[in-house]
Amino acid sequence: MYRSHTCGQLRSRDVNTTVTLAGWVQKVRNLGAMTFIDLRDRYGITQLVVEEHSAEEVKQTAAQLGREFVIQATGKVIERASKNPRMETGDIEVSVERLVILNRAQTPPFTIEDNSDGGDDLRMKYRYLDLRRNPLKNAMILRHKMAQSIRTFLDSEGFLEIETPYLIKSTPEGARDFVVPSRMNPNEFYALPQSPQTFKQLLMVAGYDKYFQIVRCFRDEDLRADRQPEFTQIDCEMSFVEQEDVLEVFERMAKFMFKNTLGVEFDYPFRRMPWSEAMAKYGSDKPDIRFGMEFCELTSAAQGNGFSVFDSAEYVGAIAAPGCASYTRKQIDELTEFIKRPQVGAKGLVWVRLEADGSVKSSVDKFYSPDQLRKWAEMAGARPGDMLFLVADKRKRALSALCELRLELGERLGLRDKSKFAPLWVVDFPLLEWDDETQRFYAMHHPFTSPKPEDIPLFDTDPGKIRANAYDFVVNGVEVGGGSIRIHDAQLQHRMFDILGFTPEKAEEQFGFLMNAFKFGAPPHGGLAFGFDRFCSLFGGADSIRDYIAFPKNNSGRDMMIDAPSPIDKAQLDELCLTLTEPKK
Ligand code: AMO
Ligand code: AMP
Repeated sequence: MYRSHTCGQLRSRDVNTTVTLAGWVQKVRNLGAMTFIDLRDRYGITQLVVEEHSAEEVKQTAAQLGREFVIQATGKVIERASKNPRMETGDIEVSVERLVILNRAQTPPFTIEDNSDGGDDLRMKYRYLDLRRNPLKNAMILRHKMAQSIRTFLDSEGFLEIETPYLIKSTPEGARDFVVPSRMNPNEFYALPQSPQTFKQLLMVAGYDKYFQIVRCFRDEDLRADRQPEFTQIDCEMSFVEQEDVLEVFERMAKFMFKNTLGVEFDYPFRRMPWSEAMAKYGSDKPDIRFGMEFCELTSAAQGNGFSVFDSAEYVGAIAAPGCASYTRKQIDELTEFIKRPQVGAKGLVWVRLEADGSVKSSVDKFYSPDQLRKWAEMAGARPGDMLFLVADKRKRALSALCELRLELGERLGLRDKSKFAPLWVVDFPLLEWDDETQRFYAMHHPFTSPKPEDIPLFDTDPGKIRANAYDFVVNGVEVGGGSIRIHDAQLQHRMFDILGFTPEKAEEQFGFLMNAFKFGAPPHGGLAFGFDRFCSLFGGADSIRDYIAFPKNNSGRDMMIDAPSPIDKAQLDELCLTLTEPKK
C-alpha cells in the first residue's frame, strides 16, 4: 500500500493515527533541528515534520529532498503548534518515522505555484508540470464536473450518447479540413470532422430521436483565445421538433449546469434577440448584454450640416458612455487610436461631451449647434455627465467598430464583471451571407439549415433576406453554442445547394449519402452544439479556452510538448504515395 490517506484529507480528528502519505515535494524548509516538508498531491498539501528525535536515516533522507521529488512518508498525525488557517490540513502535521524517496526529480523549469514564473511556451512544453499547478488542476476538475452534469441531464431527458467516426469525408462547417491520407486507398484522403453534423442527421433518419455526444471536432482555421484546431462540442440532435422545442430543452440544460456547477440560478426565461436587433444595437451577433450602451443610429440627424465625414457616410451611429464626460483629451485620444487600429478599422471618432451643467462641447461644434448636439444626446439616451461617441462609415464597418468601442468602454468602466452571467438566444439569423469578393452566397450556419417557411418565396426575389430557423446561445459576448432546424426535404435541400453554387454533381459527390438517406423517410429534425471548452472557460472566469484543455495547441497550431506537427519518414511517405514540394512563400 503506497498511501493510507491523500494529502488533502487529514484533520484534527486524525491526531494520533499513524498514516502513510505519498506525493510530490512542494517545498522543504530546514530550520536547523527540524525540517518541514510540504507534501502535495491532487487533493492538497500536508506538512510533514522531521524532528530532532527522528531516526538518523529519516534525517539523512530528508536532507536529500528537492522540489518535486516523489516521496512516501509514514508517521503519526500530530496537532500543529502553530496552526495555518489558510490550509485545509493546517491544524495538523505528520511527524515522520519512515521516509522513502520513490523518485528523484530534476529542478523543474518553472515553479509549481499558483502564480508560476514560467512563460507561455515553457509551460506548454512542460504541460505535465503546468498541470500540477492549482489553477490548471481546478480547470480540469471543473471540466470533469461539467461533463458529468451534462451527461446526467441529457440521460435523464432520454438522449443517447452515440459515437460517430473521425475518419470521414469533408464536412460542411466552413473552415478548412484536416486531412488524413489513406494507405489502403492510395491518393485518397479522409477528412477529420469539423463536427458530426451529417452523422447526427443520419442518426435521426435511423430513428434515434434524441442523440448527444461530447465529441472532438477539428478545424483548420486561424486560432485565437477562444479557438483551438481541435476542440470539443456537446453535440445534440432531436427529431420531431421545432425551434422552440430545441431551445426549451437546452435552456433547461444550461440552467441546470449554471446551478449545478456554479450555484447560479436563473428564474426567468433567457432573453431572445433577433439577429437584426443584435446587429443594430450591438454590432455583433454575440452581444455582451451584461451592460447597456446600445447604439443609436444618427445618420439622418447628423447629415446636412456640411461635415463631410458624416454627410458622405452610409451610417452614423453613437454610443452614450455613462459618466465619461470627465474623460481627458488623452483618454479620448487613446480611444481614437484604439478604434483606428487595423483590427478595428474605423477612420476616426467624434465625441460630444455633456457637461453636468447642461452645456455641451464637441469635436464637431464647428458644424453643429449646441441644440443639435443635445438632440443627438437625447436620441442616444445620454444624460449630463455622459460622453457621446460617434462613428461614421459603411454600415457594416461602423457597426463593427462601434461594437469594439462599446466592449472597450465596458471593460474600462468595469461593466464586464466575470462573476456576472448574461445569457441570451440570438435567433432569426439570415440563411445566407453574400460575399463581395467571390460574388456568391455562403450558408451563414451550414447548408442543412432550414429557412423560415414564410421566407421561402424570397429564394426567387431576395435570397439575402431569407431568415433561417437558426439560433446561437450567447453568454457575456461569447458564442457558446449554435444550431438550427434542418432541411429534411430533398427538394428544398437541392434548392439550397443550388443557391450556394453547388452543381448537382458536386452536391451529389459531397453530400449524396445524406440526400440519399432523405429519400428513405427523414423525420423533421434539428439540434445544436455547444462549444464545451468555451463553456468551461466561461464558467471558470477565463478568457482563453487553453487552460481548460489538458493538452492544447499554441497559436501556430503546434503542440510544443510532443513537437507536432513534424516531418515523417521517407518510407512512410512512400507507403502513402506522397511526395513533398517546397512550401509556397
Ligand atoms: P458551430 O460551427 O457553430 O456549429 O460550432 C458550435 C460551437 O462550437 C464552438 N466552436 C469552437 N470552440 C473552440 N474552438 C473552435 N475552433 C471552435 N469552433 C466552434 C463554438 C460554437 O458555438 N454542426 C453545427 C451545430 C449544429 O448545427 O447543430 C456546428 O458545428 O462555441
Ligand atoms: P478629419 O476630417 O479626418 O480631419 O477628421 C475630423 C474629425 O472627425 C476627427 O476628430 C476624426 O477623428 C473624426 N472622424 C474622421 N472620420 C471619422 C469617421 N469615419 N467616423 C467618426 N469620426 C471620424
